[in-house]
Amino acid sequence: MIIVLTGVPGTGKTAIAQLLAKSLKPKHQLVSLNDLVKKHKLYSAIDPSDNSKIVHLPGLKSAINTMTVTVTNMLIEGHLACEFCIPEADLVLVLRTNPNELRERLGKRKYPKHKLNENVMAEALDYCLLLSQKNYPEKIVFELDTTGKSAVQSAKEAQKLITAKKKPKKKFVNWSEQLFSLTVPLQLHKKENKK
Ligand SMILES: Nc1ncnc2c1ncn2[C@@H]1O[C@H](COP(=O)(O)OP(=O)(O)OP(=O)(O)O)[C@@H](O)[C@H]1O
Ligand SMILES: [Mg+2]
Repeated sequence: MIIVLTGVPGTGKTAIAQLLAKSLKPKHQLVSLNDLVKKHKLYSAIDPSDNSKIVHLPGLKSAINTMTVTVTNMLIEGHLACEFCIPEADLVLVLRTNPNELRERLGKRKYPKHKLNENVMAEALDYCLLLSQKNYPEKIVFELDTTGKSAVQSAKEAQKLITAKKKPKKKFVNWSEQLFSLTVPLQLHKKENKK
């Protein structure tokens, strides 16, 4: 099975994928798209404002798609997996985290403020979910809410979804009701009021 784990940075892709790689049967080869970018230098520049790589997406897409045609069982993790289609994918799991909790998790990374805000906003606006639904067949795109859980609990839930290959009936992720209680939009809102 080709399983894709995607989601905004900090939603727990790497943590969950490492746990899943130990428990999945048969064994799945774990591939991190971030590692692939570094290994094959699939970037054109590094943004000095936040040290992030400007990734060459066609190159990354080609590198991962070359791998998936020869490997039967693979677990691919990376936020960039939502930006294009991996045609061999059987299941795309979009990890979600309440933006307030995501802010706390990313706060531990010492990101510059603008990078932290961008990622929290991306999650609040369903960025990875919407792109995954655009780029992959909708029936293989599942969401998994990691809010208020440990990585171990989330990995167990992911394992259940993978085994069942059945979409949960409830649509459980919707941050829009909380948009105005988020730190980032609230700051924008206040600024506009001052004009
Ligand atoms: N329910 C949860 N599921 C996954 N990770 C969690 C959970 N709760 C807390 N965490 C913690 O959040 C952090 C998530 O970091 P991780 O590196 O896995 O994110 P990521 O999605 O791979 O980010 P990036 O896209 O930057 O690589 C880890 O320190 C992890 O232990
Ligand atoms: Mg990661």
